[in-house]
Parts: sequence; structure tokens; C-alpha cells
Amino acid sequence: MPVMTGVKMSQEIKTSNKKQVIIVISAHDEAKYLLDLINMGVDNFVLKPLDIGQFLEVLHKAISLVRFAKMEEEYKQELEETVEKRTRELQEALSLVQQLNGEVVQRLTAATELRDLDTGLHNRRLGLFAPKLARAMGLSEEYVESLAFAAPLHDIGKIGILDKILLKPGPLTEEEFEIMKTHTITGASILSDSIHEKINMTASIALSHHERWDGSGYPGGLKGEDIPLEGRIVSICDHYDALRSKRPYKPALSHQEAMEIIVNGDAKSRSGCFDPQILEVFIRIADEFDEIYVSQQD
Ligand SMILES: [Fe+2]
Ligand SMILES: [Fe+2]
Repeated sequence: MPVMTGVKMSQEIKTSNKKQVIIVISAHDEAKYLLDLINMGVDNFVLKPLDIGQFLEVLHKAISLVRFAKMEEEYKQELEETVEKRTRELQEALSLVQQLNGEVVQRLTAATELRDLDTGLHNRRLGLFAPKLARAMGLSEEYVESLAFAAPLHDIGKIGILDKILLKPGPLTEEEFEIMKTHTITGASILSDSIHEKINMTASIALSHHERWDGSGYPGGLKGEDIPLEGRIVSICDHYDALRSKRPYKPALSHQEAMEIIVNGDAKSRSGCFDPQILEVFIRIADEFDEIYVSQQD
């Protein structure tokens, strides 16, 4: 052949298109030459002088090979399309389930809000505060997402508190306060024993968001790390929001006043109520809490 050898040309063709079928017609019949062609990926060869019957047979095999390769290619493509379609369907189903979860939380939260209109924005702000604090603590995105889902439901147990206590326009008596404390246990009993992690986290928060690091909280009087992490996180957020909010029995406090009480305590809450490590992160990002509080008003 001019310019290049048959072996070289076969090599170049196979380099640019691996699937190209090559039949070599050659007068060379040395073993090395034939071996080189085979190594090159040549599909068949016919020796000169050309035997037309043998050549047609080789050609027929080559055509079958091309057809088979085409069928294989089509099957592969069909398979890929099916996998892609199923993956899309699964993603859609997953996103529907996630939407459903979100909607259930919103509706459950709305049920609490029906009992006490003051708590609506409070719950929503907790759904923003708690994930912000968790993210700043370096917790996983999955945990942060679960907190955003669970925190707004922390007070769901309040639907079991009598109106005359829940809506009382003044400070509660000791006896009334004891009843009010049961919203933690009621909330946990509504939400516990789920097969879903997020709902279990919600139950844990409902039960533990009034526990205090120094053991002065309720309902269990748990101390330190015996209090679930999510309970310790929501506890600071809940306290900050309660201090900032106006209640029939107390005025709304400024950001600075609320911070002062959270860090140093007051007549109602001692310092040492909160996990010191979480408190440190909270102090670092406190300005962002103020921004959320100011932006999430009625
Ligand atoms: Fe509560
Ligand atoms: Fe609360």
C-alpha cells in the first residue's frame, strides 16, 4: 500500500473508531503479519488471490457483526433511557413525600396555632433559629434539615392544655404552671414511636425543650448531655424568642436585653441553663437571630 502499511492504517482506523469493522485483503500470509492484524483488532482477513466465495462468507460475517453491534447499542440506549426514566420517577416520588412531610408539619403547627394565636410566629421562627444554630455548630446538613422540620412542633403538646391556662392573660399560679409543664409529655406522646427519624426527633424536642443544662428544667430534670442535643439547641432558641416576644404578663425585650438574660440569667432563669458550647455559638451568631426575629413579625 502507498503512504502507510495495512497494519498502520488498521491501527489508525481503530484509534478513531473502535467499532469500525475491518476486513483486510492481503497477499501477506506470514504469521507475524497476521498476528499484528489480530492484535490491532482487525475483524477478518482474506488472502490474495481473492476467492470470491470465501470473501462473500467473510463479508456476511462482518455484516452480522455490525448488525449485532447495532442491536447491542440500541438495547443499551433503551436500558439507559429506562433507568433514567425510573430515576426521574423515583426523584419525583421522593420530592412528593418530602412535600407531604412539610405539609403535615405545617398543618400540625397550624393546629397548635388555632389554640393560641401568639404561638404561630414563634413556631415559625423556631423553624429558622434552630437550623441556623445547628449549622453554625458544624452539624450535618441532614441533622440541620431535620431540626428545621421538627423545631416548629416543639410546643404541639399545648393543644392538650385547657384554654383557661393556655390563654390566661397573666402569670400562672404554681398549680397552673404544673399543668402547663405537661405540654412536653403530651407533645412527646403524640409524636413518639415513629419509624421516621424526623418524627422521632420532633418527639425528642417536644419532651426536652424545657430541660436545662444545670438540671433545673422539666419534665425530667435532666442534666448536661443527658438532655438530647436537639433539645439543648431548641431550648436556647425557644428562650430567646420568648424573651423577645410580648406576652400578656410581660413586655417584649430588646435583642440586647434578651442576650443579657440568656448569658447571665435573671430572677426566673439562672445562668448555666444552657449547654456552654451551644451558648458560645449562639453568642457568635446572635445578630442573625435578631435579624430573623425582626423580619418574622406579624
Ligand atoms: Fe414549650
Ligand atoms: Fe416554645
